[in-house]
Amino acid sequence: MRIDIITCLPALLEGFFSTSIVKRAMDAGTVTVNIIDLRDFGIGKSRQIDDYAFGGGAGMVMMIEPLVDAIEHLQSERSYDEVIYMTPDGELLQQQITNTLSLSENLMIVCGHYKGIDERVREKYITREISIGDYVLSGGEIPAAVLSDAIIRLIPGAMNDETSALTDSFQDDLLSPPVYTRPADFKGVKVPEVLLSGNFKLIEDWRTEKALERTKERRPDLWKKTL
Ligand code: ADE
Repeated sequence: MRIDIITCLPALLEGFFSTSIVKRAMDAGTVTVNIIDLRDFGIGKSRQIDDYAFGGGAGMVMMIEPLVDAIEHLQSERSYDEVIYMTPDGELLQQQITNTLSLSENLMIVCGHYKGIDERVREKYITREISIGDYVLSGGEIPAAVLSDAIIRLIPGAMNDETSALTDSFQDDLLSPPVYTRPADFKGVKVPEVLLSGNFKLIEDWRTEKALERTKERRPDLWKKTL
């Protein structure tokens, strides 16, 4: 898979992708993440990428020309499964969306800043708009990193334990059961006996029960879906 991310803060994303768990996948060659500096397509000597909003009001808008030039430059080299714009008014990111996107070959992600991007870019080039939650961040870089991380870790070979991503919370609309590691007795607080039993059937049943219990208690909205 290849993910191309257009941003005006490349250093922020380069830092994330050069140190995080997804670097493994990049080193193994399963994923390439390519960061594109929007300023390389900026206008004039100052490499301008934003301008005042028509109609007035506070806040700048990302200009149409640099963004379209960057998108078209990328599109001239390969076709994309999706051109995604990270925005608080997009569809709310859910596990199901990352599952689908993890099957893509090429993804392009556009990070917004200021008041956002010119609406005409959204209409003509963006195929999907995604929000990572009902709050507003100062830019689309962290959302792009969140989305990429959630996708990349689903790609076989990207993680230490390939089966692990399939047992995550949300894969079956249930939260994950509690987990424990050594020591079995920490200052008198013991690991549940069943986990030490070596009986895999019993352990599986216990995990399912705890997952259901936790979901019912913490996320009644998800719990209703499992009924
Ligand atoms: N850009 C700013 N806030 C955002 C959010 N919540 N989700 C996606 N992109 C954003």
